[in-house]
Amino acid sequence: MSRLVVVSNRVADPRKTAAGGLAVALAEFLNNTGGLWFGWSGKVVESAHGGRAGEAELHTHQAGPVKLVTLDLSREDHDAYYLGYSNGVLWPVCHYRLDLADFESSYIAGYRRVNQMFARKLAPLLKPDDVIWVHDYHLIPLGSELRALGCRQRIGFFLHVPLPPPLMFAAIPGHDWLMRGLCSYDLVGLQSEADHEHFCRYIQREAHAQDLGDGQWRVFNRTLRAGAFPIGIDVEEFNALAEGAEARELYQRMKREYSRRKLLVGVDRLDYSKGLPHRLRAFRELLQKYPDTHRSATLIQIASPSREDVTAYTDILHQLESLCGSINGNFGELDWMPVRYMHRTVARARLPGLYRASQVGLVTPLRDGMNLVAKEFVVAQDPADPGVLVLSRFAGAAEQLGEALLVNPYDSEGTAEAIHLALQMPLEERITRHQALLASCKRWDVHWWCDSFLDTLNKSQAEESGTP
Ligand code: G6P
Repeated sequence: MSRLVVVSNRVADPRKTAAGGLAVALAEFLNNTGGLWFGWSGKVVESAHGGRAGEAELHTHQAGPVKLVTLDLSREDHDAYYLGYSNGVLWPVCHYRLDLADFESSYIAGYRRVNQMFARKLAPLLKPDDVIWVHDYHLIPLGSELRALGCRQRIGFFLHVPLPPPLMFAAIPGHDWLMRGLCSYDLVGLQSEADHEHFCRYIQREAHAQDLGDGQWRVFNRTLRAGAFPIGIDVEEFNALAEGAEARELYQRMKREYSRRKLLVGVDRLDYSKGLPHRLRAFRELLQKYPDTHRSATLIQIASPSREDVTAYTDILHQLESLCGSINGNFGELDWMPVRYMHRTVARARLPGLYRASQVGLVTPLRDGMNLVAKEFVVAQDPADPGVLVLSRFAGAAEQLGEALLVNPYDSEGTAEAIHLALQMPLEERITRHQALLASCKRWDVHWWCDSFLDTLNKSQAEESGTP
């Protein structure tokens, strides 16, 4: 059997992961398949200590069945590749926020340099029949860099973030270079049908791609496949976590503490794409319009610190703090605070307890590739008395979780109405919706995601006729 080589910017020890996202999903399936996981160590080395741009030492570490190989980044590489191009250009554009993109021209050189370094360091570790799976926007050009070094293995790419419509993507200086990079993979996987459609429209419109049918395209002188492969969670693993002491202890504690109140919960990275100020405004709207919610509903919002060196993230932090403060100041009572806001990460082992103790899960991003918190919330519920998921229609998860209360997060009145509906929803309807949602989480779980992606990748013919 071929060995699986996974490459992503963020690498986590599969036995110790935090809330949601790419690293958790990858850790979950690599734990089952074994293989090699290659990426950034998360450490930055100052040049005074030997960290030179484009150069890095490898660290190898065996974590159960998974071999982790990581490299540190020099300060210069980290700032241009990770903060600059990945999170200052690609992240905002992929989340439809051209206004937040910083098209500083030096970033792209750093992005390219680090992708070249990844390729140079990874290539000697590869075996001829390895299957290589590259993940996310940090590493779009990695496939073509590996090809340039003579790698002939099958290489697939999965984009975890949304792919915006062609004209928006085309606003990125160098978008054609990025797209050529994307098209050098044998398979390009996207989270949703909407993202897949954007990809197809882009290559047809900007690169005159020829549709060969069955998800195959002829473009830039080569053949590739593309498709939507919505990512899911490991339902069994999450259930096991829910049975653990930490989750149970938190569940009991929350139930005791909030015995007379309904809990609404939001768990997100503190990111402008998550729509946190919009969510808070919707909650304020709810309190204004429905005085019966005073004292009877509490919103717990956990916002884990993220990318704090990027200015847009500091701005959102301040907005959020000020909104929470003003809501508590205006509506709070001596014995009730409407919002409990925490700017910190909660251990993953405790999350199922928090979700299960909550009557409403708020997952209302302005744009999101998938959002696995939505799926974790569903799986954590008690099937006999489940909570209600209020979900943004702009999260990829909405394509699978249509039985949630779908909202437009920009519409704070509409979202407030949906929250009110969720708080009032009769048990029978909650159960019916939850059964359907749970069935979808089980059907499109993490195993389905990786099996369907890897089966399709194995089907695709390694392209022999040169690289773009
Ligand atoms: C999203 C991205 C991932 C990223 C994660 C955490 O889920 O799609 O690629 O790893 O956010 O962000 P960070 O910048 O801390 O890796």
